[in-house]
Amino acid sequence: MGRTSRIEGFYKMGMAERIRIVKEFAELTPEEAMALTGFGGLNPDIPDKMIENAVGSFPVPLGIAVNFTINGKDYLIPMAIEEPSVVAAASNSAKMAREKGGFWTSSTAPVMIGQIQITGVKDPNRAKHVLLERKHEILDLANKQDPVLVKVGGGAKDLGVRIIHTLHGPSVIVHIHVDVRDAMGANAVNTMAEAVAPMVEEMTGGRVYLRILSNLATHRLARARAIWPKEALGGDEVVNGVIEAYVFADADPYRCATHNKGIMNGIDAVMLATGNDTRAIEAGAHAYAAMSGSYKPLTTFEKTPEGDLVGTIELPMAVGLIGGATKVHPTARACIKLLGVKTAQELGEVAAAVGLAQNLAALRALATVGIQKGHMSLHARNIAASAGCPPELIDEVVRVMIAEKKIRMDRAQEIVQELTREKSKQSKMG
Ligand code: MEV
Repeated sequence: MGRTSRIEGFYKMGMAERIRIVKEFAELTPEEAMALTGFGGLNPDIPDKMIENAVGSFPVPLGIAVNFTINGKDYLIPMAIEEPSVVAAASNSAKMAREKGGFWTSSTAPVMIGQIQITGVKDPNRAKHVLLERKHEILDLANKQDPVLVKVGGGAKDLGVRIIHTLHGPSVIVHIHVDVRDAMGANAVNTMAEAVAPMVEEMTGGRVYLRILSNLATHRLARARAIWPKEALGGDEVVNGVIEAYVFADADPYRCATHNKGIMNGIDAVMLATGNDTRAIEAGAHAYAAMSGSYKPLTTFEKTPEGDLVGTIELPMAVGLIGGATKVHPTARACIKLLGVKTAQELGEVAAAVGLAQNLAALRALATVGIQKGHMSLHARNIAASAGCPPELIDEVVRVMIAEKKIRMDRAQEIVQELTREKSKQSKMG
């Protein structure tokens, strides 16, 4: 049997015990395990090399989602996020999906689009045809910019031309399609787009302005699907409730923005933990959601003939495993090792599965008890700890505060006193 991500009671353990388990799972070195904790802090050289005017770094909590099995392989998933409940929700969703085999994923090749904007073309249709007739010259020049990428099987593979209608009349837009392999690809694509711009001008007689990748990475998609048994979810009514929530998002952009936000809670957390560009992923996801002309959910939910719930997700996933923060940030590197992903495509598929899991958890909570209940228990734990509650009494104090719906410091302190009095009475008697 391979290593398992199904870890009973992970949430109840102390941080040291969790780190021990994670270290063993991924065979991390002591330095890598230390990097995950962030306790050593970032070597001050690193932020100074990453951005301008650096004064330090900004730590964000890093949690581990458990229970994920994706294409038959178990993953422990690092998630960097400041919001409570997200990691617990993903883990719980993954636990319920395990019964039917977990998540199944697929993706396209890692192809990014580089855009070249040509203005002032008198005869756009002729220009389009000339560019397409001579596309090999453009692609050859693009590929000369990155022989290493070409050597590993990537590079500029194809070219498309669109005529768009702007406020200033028609504009000819060249798309170069670049297989960027395990890179996020912005550098490779932008370099190529800039390099071919003069050739494109000469071919069309137009004037090139912008030469930049598109974050709407429609040729770099990741997909995931899973089945949640109706019994695990809480029965027929819960399945119906989740589907109603999906139908609501499909019909209403106000709801859909929040629906997709819930998905991105999971995806962004994985992206941040692995040193990826969260803004690029966000931009791509929301633009993709609006591709049909109306803003739509990135997921779908429907019933299987047996009455179980099946969910799917598809979105652009411009993620990298090499270069940028993924290379220089020690915590991001340790997170990538923990995930055990071998390609950027695999990382994208894992992130898609987390997004789907996150969405299911949110919709299930919303369609049943609401999301405040989940938030409340962590909030109550924080209040109990801030009120000076000894660790061995935290669970009980939290239970009482939630039952009374009084989650306040003064009440936490009172309960601690009551429990302590009770305990000392019992020990005198016994
Ligand atoms: C909160 O961060 C995310 C949710 O609002 C998502 C949703 O409403 O689907 C719970």
